[in-house]
Amino acid sequence: MVQLFRLSMICALVTLVWPLSGMAAGDPERGEILADTCMGCHGIKGYRNAYPSYRVPKLGGQPQEYLKLALIGYRNGSRAHETMRAQAATLSNQDIDDLAAYFAGQGEIRSGELVTGGRAAAGKDKVAVCSACHGPNGVSPAPNWPSLAGQHRDYLEESIAQYQRGDRTDPVMAGQVINLTEQDIKDIAAFYAAQSGLFTVSYAN
Ligand code: HEC
Ligand code: HEC
Repeated sequence: MVQLFRLSMICALVTLVWPLSGMAAGDPERGEILADTCMGCHGIKGYRNAYPSYRVPKLGGQPQEYLKLALIGYRNGSRAHETMRAQAATLSNQDIDDLAAYFAGQGEIRSGELVTGGRAAAGKDKVAVCSACHGPNGVSPAPNWPSLAGQHRDYLEESIAQYQRGDRTDPVMAGQVINLTEQDIKDIAAFYAAQSGLFTVSYAN
């Protein structure tokens, strides 16, 4: 009787967990095919967005869950960037899972010594409040929060400004950046950009 109970518990757990983990995993091979259209921008080192001009974000090393959340944000409009909205508009949930699995599967973040000299110095004290979620050196400790280490400086400045302007409507980040001055944003972006971490995913890798 006890054994039967145990067995049915295990079966119940398996049926509960299996489909969920199956969906979350995504298919990186299908993702690679879908990613063809993304590489014209994200696969070229230092590629610039036309207007306003700033470098297209590095995706390599971002947590899989965060990549999904970002794409869902462009699809549902909580992120306003026109080009990315157009890219994400027709993606299905499955497409998003597969794309995230592909990009996240291109390698772990390449973390290094904390860089605090030069331009990064001014930002170091200002990021103390950000560390809980983005990590003391910009490497995120959680799957649904972005890493910032090694991201392009001008993209970091632009994305923080978007949370301030309301072009991105994430309730967590809006509260975090509301009091930052332009100088704060410059210093913080310089600090994170100086850390080693994120990288450009390209077919040549
Ligand atoms: C025409 C150039 C272009 C193409 C093509 C493109 N992107 Fe983007 N992508 C951008 C730009 C520019 C941004 C920054 C947008 C912003 O400021 O919010 C971005 C942002 C992103 C982000 C958010 C990154 C972060 O750190 O938050 C993800 C994820 C992303 N793109 C994935 C994709 C995927 C997947 C595809 C293909 C289906 C794709 N992009 C196609 C230009 C492009
Ligand atoms: C409570 C957790 C938390 C704290 C604290 C926090 N952030 Fe964030 N941050 C997030 C989340 C969640 C996102 C993704 C939001 C979204 O979906 O657009 C994010 C996104 C970002 C992005 C955009 C990354 C990208 O790739 O587009 C930047 C830049 C950023 N945060 C900077 C900061 C700075 C600077 C601070 C401190 C002043 C800070 N954050 C504090 C949770 C946090």
